[in-house]
Parts: sequence; structure tokens; C-alpha cells
Amino acid sequence: MTVGQSSVFTSDYRKAKISAANIFRLLDRRSREAEVTGSEIRDFQGNVAFAAVHFHYPGRPEARVLRGLSLEVKSGQKVALVGASGCGKSTSVQLLERFYDVTRGAIHVDGRDVTSVDRHWLRRQMALVSQEPTLFSGTIRENIAYGARDVTFDAIVRSAQMANVHDFVQSLPSQYETRVGARGAQLSGGQKQRIAIARALIRDPRILLLDEATSALDTASEECVQMALEEAAKGRTCLVIAHRMSTVRSADVICVLERGAVVESGSHEQLMQRKGVYFRLNSL
Ligand SMILES: Nc1ncnc2c1ncn2[C@@H]1O[C@H](COP(=O)(O)OP(=O)(O)O)[C@@H](O)[C@H]1O
Ligand SMILES: [Mg+2]
Repeated sequence: MTVGQSSVFTSDYRKAKISAANIFRLLDRRSREAEVTGSEIRDFQGNVAFAAVHFHYPGRPEARVLRGLSLEVKSGQKVALVGASGCGKSTSVQLLERFYDVTRGAIHVDGRDVTSVDRHWLRRQMALVSQEPTLFSGTIRENIAYGARDVTFDAIVRSAQMANVHDFVQSLPSQYETRVGARGAQLSGGQKQRIAIARALIRDPRILLLDEATSALDTASEECVQMALEEAAKGRTCLVIAHRMSTVRSADVICVLERGAVVESGSHEQLMQRKGVYFRLNSL
């Protein structure tokens, strides 16, 4: 299987970095070797808590990214992270997925320290939708089914419906057998993103991670993807990172990050009344 050309061979460092993370994620999901380093959680509810997390990237102790980050996402809640570029939002998501471990403090899922939970199992409970969707050369059906075990065609269609992309796929001459990728159909950013959302949903993850999932889209496709994401988040724990303030308004709790820590948190209304950092971000 080859990797979609547009998403990897880009000169843009940031995009390349995001794509690389996606690929590792997918490779990891594929690797079936049973490296059991912890246990699984029975009846997993998807509660997430960061407790005074400190973190710097390996070998970069001078560049402290997180400095005492604490936040809680209760099962089924939607919590938004907002803050300036570089304040540690994406890093927090990577720590939850255990691509790195915290330097100090802890991250808990259902009250268990993530370091005591099997890493591969934990990742199967989560799905990430990021800014740059990675589609592979293959059919739309294969792209949606990717990373899931024993999927039926019905399940693929259900995920596509939830992701608001089923009608579009049906309108294509070869429908779910349409090839995408380097020599396949040319899809818009929004169409690709909705296929990526369908892929995220096929495993029915307890935790949905959205990292600037609509940031690269124009306003028209943003709306369509936003609707898909609202539907996707229903009944799941959702951690959403968004650039545009309008996308986080509906979150149960909004956490404002500055220099690696939460400086304000509350609902949109509460934070607007406070007339602090969030209020200022909204009046930009
Ligand atoms: N893989 C990495 N290695 C070293 N530093 C990194 C890496 N990824 C991000 N950083 C740095 O960590 C800080 C936080 O980055 P990030 O979490 O991506 O911020 P945000 O998502 O809030 O824009 C930035 O200073 C960034 O340059
Ligand atoms: Mg980021």
C-alpha cells in the first residue's frame, strides 16, 4: 500500500510533520504484534484527566512545552482546547495517545494512569482527526475500512452516513469502489476530511480527538465537515482543538492554554462574562 502523494511529499514542514504522525498512527494500528506492556480496562467509559502534567520533548529539556497542565474530560463530554499556536495543544493529544510519556504529573483514563494501560489497546479506544487527512491509494471503501478489524460493508456505509459523506460517495460512478490517491479521483479537502472522519468512526472509538480538523478548509466545506463532526462526537468523549472560536462554542468546557497550562476554563458564556483571555480571543 502506498501513501497518498499529496499528503506526504509536501514541502511544507508543518504539513509533513502532521502527516508523519498520521502514518505512524496508522502503522501502529496495523502492527498486530502483541507487545503487552500493561492491561486493558474493562467497561471502558472514556474519562480522561490530565493532572499537573509537565512535558518537554526528548532531549529538549530547555524547551518546556507543558507546565502543570490539568484538565478533565468526563465520559461523553466535549472539551475544547484553545490557545495560541505552539502553546502545547497538539502535544497534549500526543501524550494522551502515548506517543510520548509525561515528564512529571500524570494522565489518567477512567482513573488509571495511562502508563499502566496497554498502549495498543488504549489507541484502539481513540480516533484522531487532524488537519491534513491521509488517504491511501485505494478505493474509498478500503480507505474507510482501514485500521478496523472484520468490517462489513454495512458498517462502512453507516460510518460514511455519520460522516456526512455517503451521499457524495453514492453520486460517484464507482461509488465505494472509486479509487482515490495519486492516480485516483480528485477529491476536495472537505470530501477527503469526511472520508477520514468515516474511517475514525468505523472502530466506534470511545474517545474522539479533533485537532484543527476544519482549519484547512474553505467556509463552505468547513460547514459540511463541522456537521459531520457534531454527529461523530455524539455519545463519545471528545477533545477538540480548534482555531476558529465558532467551532468551540458548543463545548461543555473550554480550556484556554497559555504557555503549557490552563489559565481559564468554563463554558462559552462563563468565559465571555469573565472578560479575560477567552473574551479577548473572541474579539480578535
Ligand atoms: N516533535 C517535536 N519535537 C520537538 N518540539 C516539538 C515537537 N512537536 C512540537 N514541538 C514544540 O512544542 C511546542 C508545542 O507544540 P504544539 O503542541 O504542536 O502546539 P499547538 O498544537 O498548541 O500549536 C512548540 O514550541 C513546538 O515547536
Ligand atoms: Mg497543533
